[in-house]
Amino acid sequence: MRISVVGGGYVGLVSAVCFAELGHEVNLIEIDQMKVNAINQGRPTIYEKGLDEMLSAHADRNLVASSSYESIPDAKVTLICVGTPPGSDGAADLSMIGSAAKSIGMALRDCVGYHIVAVKSTVPPGTTEKLVKPAVLKYSGKADSSTDIGFVMNPEFLREGLAVSDFMNPDRIVVGSSDQKAGDIFQEVYSGLEAPLVRTSLTAAEMIKYTSNAFLATKISFSNEIGNVCKRLGIDVYEVMKGVGLDHRINPHFLNAGAGFGGSCFPKDVSALMHLARDVGEEPVLLNAVVEINDRQPMRMIELLEKRVGDLLGKRIAIIGLAFKNDTDDARESRAIPVIMELRRRGADVAAYDPQACSSMRKIIPDIQYCANPSEALKMADACLVMTEWPQFSLLDKEFDMMRSKVIIEGRRILSCNDAEGICW
Ligand code: UDX
Repeated sequence: MRISVVGGGYVGLVSAVCFAELGHEVNLIEIDQMKVNAINQGRPTIYEKGLDEMLSAHADRNLVASSSYESIPDAKVTLICVGTPPGSDGAADLSMIGSAAKSIGMALRDCVGYHIVAVKSTVPPGTTEKLVKPAVLKYSGKADSSTDIGFVMNPEFLREGLAVSDFMNPDRIVVGSSDQKAGDIFQEVYSGLEAPLVRTSLTAAEMIKYTSNAFLATKISFSNEIGNVCKRLGIDVYEVMKGVGLDHRINPHFLNAGAGFGGSCFPKDVSALMHLARDVGEEPVLLNAVVEINDRQPMRMIELLEKRVGDLLGKRIAIIGLAFKNDTDDARESRAIPVIMELRRRGADVAAYDPQACSSMRKIIPDIQYCANPSEALKMADACLVMTEWPQFSLLDKEFDMMRSKVIIEGRRILSCNDAEGICW
């Protein structure tokens, strides 16, 4: 099938490459010409495990990137994969969704035959029906023959760093549709993947995405609340969660207590869902607590640090790990950000190291020392805070001997040396 993907960011590029891997002819539409050129030369514009090999196998063959919407009518399906960042009030900013829908509509003006517009971006329930559908029908001039265009909502469940694997091995495929025909045709884009298929309404599909992320974030904050109590009782929360997670109704995943959740999804999606709840007159009591616990965890790192080394003014503190999690170069909403900001507010000197995320953190916090290796950050440090669960950090040992004082506090359970104290362990 010929497929158009609008938006060559993290979701759009991974989806386009994986659809090409499934044998489809894919047109990726991206406004940034630099990205278009890189993609057509087989060079991914994001770091994702397995993406470069897969892209180079399909670039300029059955995957072509362009900044133009002219290829839209040639496709059977167009997927919208543009960003929905949080607005200043916490609600999802849908401006890029609206402009994509308009451009798709205009491109479909002369389209003959049936076409499906599918939203893959994370959008509040009602967006596909009330924003995307009217815009596409209006600008395509097909408002009175809306049977020419079907609408689908197909959320993604891709984790950064594991997005290719998550796409090719989904736990489920969710297809929300405006009518049976649209869903029946659309689900063919996933032929070749084995996974439970959930056929539902447009709004339920939109809500499944928000609910999934909010529940995963809730598991993390729940683990952190239990971890904070365990810390006071001298109990290892990881031992507790090992016993709890074996209950098949709970499962062991996303029960790792620590510095809390970051990234470009959980904070924004939980915030958008809370905003939506209030919009419809429901106070999100539980999600309020999830966010409050998450916001407090980084400060607990600082409190623990001050208890160990006293006043932070003039102290040299090493931050090992800047990315919001391992296997990504992304520092968005990293838990290291509030920690570093507070250290600087208290007059500490910060020396930071991360295998991949120094450049993205430098855009957020430019004026701290960025080091090329852990030793450079640890040299003469009064303390060290571990903020990202990079597997290679478990090999750190003699490097800690370079510190002025060996105070090591983990925000992520990753070290194997015995000298570390954890935020919740
Ligand atoms: C998440 C969802 O997992 C994914 O399904 C959705 O499509 C996008 O958002 P991602 O944000 O890439 O994916 O990262 P994820 O692996 O979920 O981790 C999110 C944050 O939670 C990270 O900061 C991580 O360190 C933290 N985390 C994760 C915990 O603190 N404890 C855990 O047990 C798991």
